[in-house]
Amino acid sequence: MIYVKGLNKSYGPHHVLKDLTMHVEKGEIYGFIGKNGAGKSTAMNLFAGLAQFQSGECLIAGKATSMHSRKSGKVGYLPENPGFYQYMTGLEYLLFIDSMFKRKNSAARRNAAELLETVKLSDDAYRRIGGYSRGMRQRLGLASVLVGDPDLLLLDEPSSALDPEGRNDMVNIIKDLNRQGKTVLISSHILDDIEKICDRIGILHCGHIHLETNLTDLDDKYLPPSYQAVFEKGPSPENIAALKRKPWMENMETVNGRFIFHLKQGDESKVLLLKTLGEMNLAVQSLLRKKSTLEDFFLKAVNGNE
Ligand SMILES: Nc1ncnc2c1ncn2[C@@H]1O[C@H](COP(=O)(O)OP(=O)(O)O)[C@@H](O)[C@H]1O
Ligand SMILES: [Mg+2]
Repeated sequence: MIYVKGLNKSYGPHHVLKDLTMHVEKGEIYGFIGKNGAGKSTAMNLFAGLAQFQSGECLIAGKATSMHSRKSGKVGYLPENPGFYQYMTGLEYLLFIDSMFKRKNSAARRNAAELLETVKLSDDAYRRIGGYSRGMRQRLGLASVLVGDPDLLLLDEPSSALDPEGRNDMVNIIKDLNRQGKTVLISSHILDDIEKICDRIGILHCGHIHLETNLTDLDDKYLPPSYQAVFEKGPSPENIAALKRKPWMENMETVNGRFIFHLKQGDESKVLLLKTLGEMNLAVQSLLRKKSTLEDFFLKAVNGNE
């Protein structure tokens, strides 16, 4: 759905995107993450056909990006800070957007009512946007990019600036839209939200996709395993020293009386930990794999390679 190859974009001497290459498949939710200033919004502007790039290729659904794809409604772009006419009501605003598609008034009204329902604003359809909360505005922004029934949604930080409830609503709405067949590229610095909805993520760093992965592969492929253990009786100092010396042990820490073992990458390290704890005759009350978060992964990816 998005095919980008060797894309370069500079603002004056500032080279923001350097040979950016990335693909987003039809039907997936792709999380576009990166530090502030990494160039996520710049890239999304280019994908939406709103800005020019110096060199490279950028195809959306097989066609070179242009203003036309957005006007025809096939690409729905929600910028980071969408602007609204404050004096309009939510419904009026959607009808105003719809007027660009030159549809019959009755069809436009039906469409607007359905979209307000989708983004849970039906009860506020006749209120002025000036009185909407941030979450409501963000949802109205989402409804406005859905007016032309786009196949691809480009959502730039759609849940930032929202409270946890607002973020949760946004996450659920995006999931539903994806189930209805929409492809989604979403940028966010709230990695928790990205983790909840994305199939794949790409980290934009130093102007290109520094790392790309399926979220399900995160733990196994990139992050060494960690286990949290609770013992009936804590290991002796000798045991602790022996554990620390093991070649498969990265490091150990204790947090609130629980031992956290950070092991080196590889399946065998887990087996060796269990075997060693057994050999030491330690009564283990519980041993849990600590799930790594996208945040762990992100920090490791961008800080290890500055
Ligand atoms: N219109 C512009 N003119 C000059 N520099 C810009 C412009 N827009 C963005 N930049 C610069 O490009 C870099 C990337 O910005 P941006 O795409 O907004 O990053 P992100 O969305 O990842 O936070 C930043 O250093 C920013 O200052
Ligand atoms: Mg941005």
